[in-house]
Amino acid sequence: MGKNALRESFIYPPFSVLDARSRWWQDRKRQWLDLGIESGKGRKEDLLKGYAVSMARWHQIQGQDHKPADWMEKSVFDPVLTELLVAWFSPKGGRVLDPFAGGSVRGIVSALLGRTYLGVDISEEQIIENRRQAEALSVQKEARWKQGDAVRLYKSGVRGWFDMILTCPPYGDLEKYSDDPADISNMPYELFLGGFRQAVKDAAARLSPDRFAVFVVGDFRDKQGINRGFVADTIQACKNAELQFYNDGVLVTQAGSLPMRVRGMFEASRKLGKTHQNVLVFVKGDPKRATEHVGHVTPFTFPDS
Ligand SMILES: C[S@@+](CC[C@H](N)C(=O)[O-])C[C@H]1O[C@@H](n2cnc3c(N)ncnc32)[C@H](O)[C@@H]1O
Repeated sequence: MGKNALRESFIYPPFSVLDARSRWWQDRKRQWLDLGIESGKGRKEDLLKGYAVSMARWHQIQGQDHKPADWMEKSVFDPVLTELLVAWFSPKGGRVLDPFAGGSVRGIVSALLGRTYLGVDISEEQIIENRRQAEALSVQKEARWKQGDAVRLYKSGVRGWFDMILTCPPYGDLEKYSDDPADISNMPYELFLGGFRQAVKDAAARLSPDRFAVFVVGDFRDKQGINRGFVADTIQACKNAELQFYNDGVLVTQAGSLPMRVRGMFEASRKLGKTHQNVLVFVKGDPKRATEHVGHVTPFTFPDS
């Protein structure tokens, strides 16, 4: 079976390496973003500033014009990845729970794929922006957000059962999202991990039996440059919450400004330039029953296609 046939059946070949650098992926991402998703909005300006500065310098070095829209886009959770994960691991009409919602993209894409989505985020500002975008796309009933603490999900008003968990938590303190003391990105790693484990447990308790949970995470380093092992810690947190480790995927991302930075990093300390994220898929209960529950994979049809 060729890749095109696999694409027809499953949107994208269901291999463990997902290549976000490919032409197909970039074209599809553009189609999603053209619908009006602005997932970088609602986050603190200075979070994005560091990235913006390095992109501006990179474009300058390359002799290219720097368009701010380019770097805003980079901080957006990938809509194509969202489409694949939602279509592969949740049933049409199912409920998706996202305890660390961040921007609007997972909510909007889930809603457009016929699921109902509930995102929880500690940041009021982020929630307001996400709701604005969902309203603009008329999916405000299907994509909803609650301001609340994922570490106390029940107290945050999350009720009922869900058919999928899809989330991208903070990677420790790699990016600090707010000064809110409940924001786990503000905490030293051990405290962060304690909160994260509790949030995973709370979310897993709301997942119906025989369902999938997907965590998109990445490894990061401590102040001494030593890898924290966050991917391994996520797997352990999920296992402790009775989510069985099922698929180990890798999202290969565009290099962005890395070619500019990697020489110094590698020469000084043999650090590899990181161009991937980990896509960890877990199952609660029986994987075959979970698959039956999901049913056929249906792609999103864009209005003008
Ligand atoms: C990795 S970020 C999301 C960025 C992501 N790539 C996106 O889709 O935009 C994780 C989110 O977790 C939120 N967060 C941090 N601590 C939280 C907590 N205790 N409860 C709920 N959300 C929290 C932050 O506000 C941030 O928006």
